[in-house]
Amino acid sequence: RLVASGSDLLLEAKTAEVGPGEQFMWRFNTTSNLVKFRLGSEPLIKYKERTVFSKQNYSLLLKNMQHSDSGNYKAVVSGLEEKTVTEYTIRVQVSPVTLTVTPTNPGCYNFTVTCRTVDSQINGTFQCDNKTWCLLHQTHLKDSSLKVYVKESSVICNHSNQVSWKQDVKDVSSLCQKEKCKI
Ligand SMILES: *[C@@H]1O[C@H](CO)[C@@H](O)[C@H](O)[C@H]1NC(C)=O
Ligand SMILES: *[C@@H]1O[C@H](CO)[C@@H](O)[C@H](O)[C@H]1NC(C)=O
Ligand SMILES: *[C@@H]1O[C@H](CO)[C@@H](O)[C@H](O)[C@H]1NC(C)=O
Ligand SMILES: *[C@@H]1O[C@H](CO)[C@@H](O)[C@H](O)[C@H]1NC(C)=O
Ligand SMILES: *[C@@H]1O[C@H](CO)[C@@H](O)[C@H](O)[C@H]1NC(C)=O
Ligand SMILES: *[C@@H]1O[C@H](CO)[C@@H](O)[C@H](O)[C@H]1NC(C)=O
Repeated sequence: RLVASGSDLLLEAKTAEVGPGEQFMWRFNTTSNLVKFRLGSEPLIKYKERTVFSKQNYSLLLKNMQHSDSGNYKAVVSGLEEKTVTEYTIRVQVSPVTLTVTPTNPGCYNFTVTCRTVDSQINGTFQCDNKTWCLLHQTHLKDSSLKVYVKESSVICNHSNQVSWKQDVKDVSSLCQKEKCKI
């Protein structure tokens, strides 16, 4: 299932029969329990700010889905043995990007590009010389899903993951037309 970045996701447990002494859990990627619930007691919830668990039908609402929330979600009932009631594979699509290009003071041939998403940003600088231009460097993030590069007469920011990509493009050809610069 594909989910847009920043959207909410409702996971239905479908038919969960939880007997006395048994425990119901929502598990992420086999290692982390998001919710643990026993009949007659309050649920234990890992991310209280962004999850809503229904004690009536065991559904789980996850708010503001992010890239790192991609993975496997399982509804599990455990008594003497564990059984998986429902399972989902969730892939979160990348969020849109915004690219801005600003001249670097005071050099009129150098420009800074900033590429932003809702939760991260990278910077790059490029230089134009004799009407051609090139990317000098860009900051690197641990998460390499954001990239900025130059192609023909445009600067492109590409935000991608395994399932989707979004881009913003700025035409910068006019920025390199200046023959002289005042410093
Ligand atoms: C379960 O409860 C939640 C929250 O009350 C609700 O949004 C959802 O539609 C319910 N699901 C079913 C299958 O009844
Ligand atoms: C969860 O599992 C998926 C698929 O194996 C993996 O791509 C993702 O990085 C994992 N996420 C976390 C936070 O461990
Ligand atoms: C542009 O940046 C490069 C590399 O940092 C530097 O060598 C050059 O002097 C700068 N040019 C101007 C006009 O600021
Ligand atoms: C990018 O530049 C902005 C302002 O110019 C700065 O606040 C931010 O920390 C920079 N980001 C990185 C990853 O270098
Ligand atoms: C600028 O570029 C043009 C065409 O590529 C070339 O003929 C010219 O010699 C260049 N001028 C300088 C000052 O590098
Ligand atoms: C953006 O990156 C993705 C993944 O690397 C690639 O498939 C896609 O073609 C790129 N888009 C552009 C416009 O370069």
